[in-house]
Amino acid sequence: MIKKAIIPAAGFGTRFLPATKAQPKEMLPIIDTPTIQYVVEEAVHSGIRDILIITGRGKQSIENHFDRAFELEANLQEKGRQEQLLQVQKLSQMANIHFIRQAELNGLGDAISYARWHVGNEPFLVLLGDTLIDSTVPCSRQLIDVYNRLKAPVIGVEEVAPEKVERYGIVGGRQVEPGTWHVDVMVEKPKMLEAPSNLAIAGRYILTPDIFDCIDQTAEGVGNEIQLTDALQLLLQKREVFAHRFEGKRYDIGNRLDYVKTMVELGVKRQDIGPELRLFLKEFAGGLD
Ligand code: UTP
Repeated sequence: MIKKAIIPAAGFGTRFLPATKAQPKEMLPIIDTPTIQYVVEEAVHSGIRDILIITGRGKQSIENHFDRAFELEANLQEKGRQEQLLQVQKLSQMANIHFIRQAELNGLGDAISYARWHVGNEPFLVLLGDTLIDSTVPCSRQLIDVYNRLKAPVIGVEEVAPEKVERYGIVGGRQVEPGTWHVDVMVEKPKMLEAPSNLAIAGRYILTPDIFDCIDQTAEGVGNEIQLTDALQLLLQKREVFAHRFEGKRYDIGNRLDYVKTMVELGVKRQDIGPELRLFLKEFAGGLD
């Protein structure tokens, strides 16, 4: 049973400066909802009730977002704004959310190692705090279902255009069931001609506790950081690891262009502003050369 989720959200977000100088990139909103709220909701809708968010300096607004806000609640109550009141209250009741601070930003692998004592001896879900996945069945639920069948770590992957493999961690292996591969090799940001496939690691993982020893044994890699992909390479030598191509679309909001695309695509799907936004976009696109 997967009962716990870890959300690393401590990074500097340098690709999004200056917006991320004094606010976490994970709090950047998609219209009116911070990205990390979507990520927490994905975990909750996948059946998770215990979430550990890895934060760091300057990330207090993440904690505040999921905490009670008595003054705001009293104010909304007084003004009779019931709908907003419920919305705000729901946020602090969604799950048991815990926080731990990553002391130094030594990479994603290092961030995950802070969860060791929290998860104990159980498998767990990892969701990157800056990556939103829009899908019919929550992406994490899809991966949990694969874990429940195969009882081994599962890496969420998506197919990317061959010319884009250089930007991602890429897995290679043999397909064992539709959409699921037994992973033989994992390469961080390979050259197009050297990539073992076009299956890119997409920010969602089901991991087992033996990953922690692998992280301990992992030397600093790209950017002098402890990379999770390097630790996963070690794990591959010890046990079977699978990759699953989930149904859904990934948005990495730490990347400026993807952030704008996310806002537009999810905006169009909304019931409140969607219809007008669609009309605006059609008119706007008609005026472009
Ligand atoms: P990224 O590598 O995209 O985040 O990590 P970053 O380092 O903040 O981004 P740039 O490259 O400087 O713009 C993916 C996720 O892992 C977290 C980040 O907060 C993000 O949600 N992370 C990354 C940590 O928690 N700790 C780290 O040391 C690095």
